[in-house]
Amino acid sequence: MAETTIKLADGNEMPLVGFGTYLINTQELMDTSIKTAFDAGYRLFDTAQLYRNEDFLGQTLVNLQIPRDQIFITSKIAEISQGYENTIKSIDGSLERLKTNYLDLLLVHWPVQEYFFDTWRALEKLKADGKVKSIGVSNFSVAHLELLKTQAKEMPVVNQVERHPYLNQRALVAFDKAQNIVTQAWSPLGRGVTLDNEMLKKMADHHRVSVAQLILKWHLQNGVAVIPKSKTPSRIIENHQLDFELSEDESGMIDLLNRNQRTGDDPEIVYETGKQYKVYKE
Ligand SMILES: NC(=O)c1ccc[n+]([C@@H]2O[C@H](COP(=O)([O-])OP(=O)(O)OC[C@H]3O[C@@H](n4cnc5c(N)ncnc54)[C@H](OP(=O)(O)O)[C@@H]3O)[C@@H](O)[C@H]2O)c1
Repeated sequence: MAETTIKLADGNEMPLVGFGTYLINTQELMDTSIKTAFDAGYRLFDTAQLYRNEDFLGQTLVNLQIPRDQIFITSKIAEISQGYENTIKSIDGSLERLKTNYLDLLLVHWPVQEYFFDTWRALEKLKADGKVKSIGVSNFSVAHLELLKTQAKEMPVVNQVERHPYLNQRALVAFDKAQNIVTQAWSPLGRGVTLDNEMLKKMADHHRVSVAQLILKWHLQNGVAVIPKSKTPSRIIENHQLDFELSEDESGMIDLLNRNQRTGDDPEIVYETGKQYKVYKE
């Protein structure tokens, strides 16, 4: 049986397959999606201040009567909430909306030059105060992590970045691994753009799985955690059924599909401008 969790550098365990909630933005959709996901075996739920759905997720967990200690909740500090005092204050809002008194994982959503060290200092304080169990970052490049290291008291245990077959982030994943940072892939399916690839279709047929399952397994076999999102019950279920193995050759062939093609923003530009510069809509 494959491992379902990974030990983070701070000793906490994190599920390897989580459920992304971006664009799950009504109470009804949150209730049905999380119920399907929980029944299918997901235990990690990924939200963010920016998604404006922390309150829906919090209400769903009450509606479904899911005990808090059975799940792992991740949220993220929005750019507008960055800075030391702002970050500390904004977390109380997140906890209130999520109807909980701690987060399992809090991430800096995007690196922002102006508040770069202050925001991280706030995360270290929130962890010391017990409001969050683990702290990490999102959309950090090797250079951002190297810079953070110059002042951080403790380093992030997770780096959540865009990753899929068209953007495999080989150097960043290797760097994270060497630093004992778990890479977690957002848009692990490339928001659908990778699903029509002919080679992936053939490989998936060979394993009698879907292209989405094939890609998710490729991430896991590369030591990368995933948080696929779907509002379709059958897809939510299949994305958690990953009980098959890819050969090294197959994994290597998927690596060759890399085109450095992003579906989201370039972290370096967000770092400079202090904000995301386009909003993705389905
Ligand atoms: N840290 C960050 O900056 C950041 C940025 C973006 C996202 N995220 C997180 O990462 C999560 C996942 O990323 P994402 O939502 O951008 O993209 P994704 O998970 O790569 O793709 C989602 C899209 O793929 C479709 N899909 C899902 N499973 C499928 C399957 N088995 N077969 C066919 N199509 C399938 C979904 O359609 P349906 O929903 O219609 O089924 C949806 O259109 C987000 O929800 C969010 O939690 C983080």
